[in-house]
Amino acid sequence: MTTEKYQNSFPLPDESPEKIDKIMSDAYFGAQKFYLLKTALELKIFDYLSDPKTSEELSSILDLDPVLTELMLKSLYELGIISIASKNGETHYINTNGSDNYLKTDSKYSKAPSISASFNSMDRWVKLSEIMGSSKSEIMENVFFPEIIKRMANDAKCWELQKTVEYVSKFSEFKSAKKLLDIAGGHGLYGISLGMLNENLDAFVFDLPEVTVETKKFIEKYNAKNVDTVQGNFFTDEFGENYDVVFSSYNPGGKNPKVAEKVYRALNLGGIFVTKQAFPKLSSQSTSDNLNNMEWNFSSFNATGKGLVRYTFDTDLTFEEYVSYLEELGFEILETKPVYELIEFSEEMFPNNIIVAKKIK
Ligand SMILES: C[S@@+](CC[C@H](N)C(=O)[O-])C[C@H]1O[C@@H](n2cnc3c(N)ncnc32)[C@H](O)[C@@H]1O
Repeated sequence: MTTEKYQNSFPLPDESPEKIDKIMSDAYFGAQKFYLLKTALELKIFDYLSDPKTSEELSSILDLDPVLTELMLKSLYELGIISIASKNGETHYINTNGSDNYLKTDSKYSKAPSISASFNSMDRWVKLSEIMGSSKSEIMENVFFPEIIKRMANDAKCWELQKTVEYVSKFSEFKSAKKLLDIAGGHGLYGISLGMLNENLDAFVFDLPEVTVETKKFIEKYNAKNVDTVQGNFFTDEFGENYDVVFSSYNPGGKNPKVAEKVYRALNLGGIFVTKQAFPKLSSQSTSDNLNNMEWNFSSFNATGKGLVRYTFDTDLTFEEYVSYLEELGFEILETKPVYELIEFSEEMFPNNIIVAKKIK
């Protein structure tokens, strides 16, 4: 009698909550890691761990709770960002080579400013219900790009820049080139680095007028005497002519057929077009693709029409369409490669590809 009453009060639902619990606990764990790393950077933990320190030493220097400090250090160790060394029987924590290079604020290769900025973009997810109920915020290209290229310069010079430049410099067409154009070069580091590898080269960085103001600062910083800027808008302006190499990395016109035609006209016969762009699969349905597409759709550009899928714009071609279009224009495809292979990462994080095409007619 009693048992029957109990069962009627708590009838078992049709399905267990395991799936929902797992999604929520994974999301919570991701958020814990997010705030752990954000706080470690804000506290400049990696600046202090250039030399080995016990957790007591660190908590005393930074005036932090000793228990939480020790647990933070243990978590960073478990994530593989710091290592442990035993000294006089005591546990000391010290940066790995990776955190010394990329997470210390005063390192030449510090990613700390760009990581902090990306943590700040998470604010938009905090305000998601507000964003979903309002119309898209509009980004002005002439304000957005002069800022974002500083972050891109910071990230590029940590690895991808060197790997890309090394790759391009192996092509005989680059070795004999006299004139190079870096379209939408932004910071200009690609043009500047390529210019350093070929002393006979004059390199030109093409970008929006407000951006070339910043490009000039980079050119000056690296004393790149053979690099200059060209102000323009690739949707409305031509690039000029007689280029032996046209290079382009991650630009909003990088999959646009009209811009490809302008590249074709700008190149000398026998010259090469090297283009490194994001080519996301339009049909992909993974959770991370959908979330990234949501983020892409939080805002629109003032002048450039965004597509629905992240990193795409109106009238863009897919990777396969773009490659065929280059062939139709009179290019021979010398090589295509996923960027993660080019930069020797073990797995693809972004759907990026590099294409090297030679103007043959
Ligand atoms: C994502 S950044 C890429 C910067 C650099 N090439 C790199 O890979 O690090 C895109 C660049 O495209 C430029 N850009 C955007 N729209 C443009 C347009 N209509 N004409 C010329 N440049 C443009 C931006 O100013 C910015 O420098």
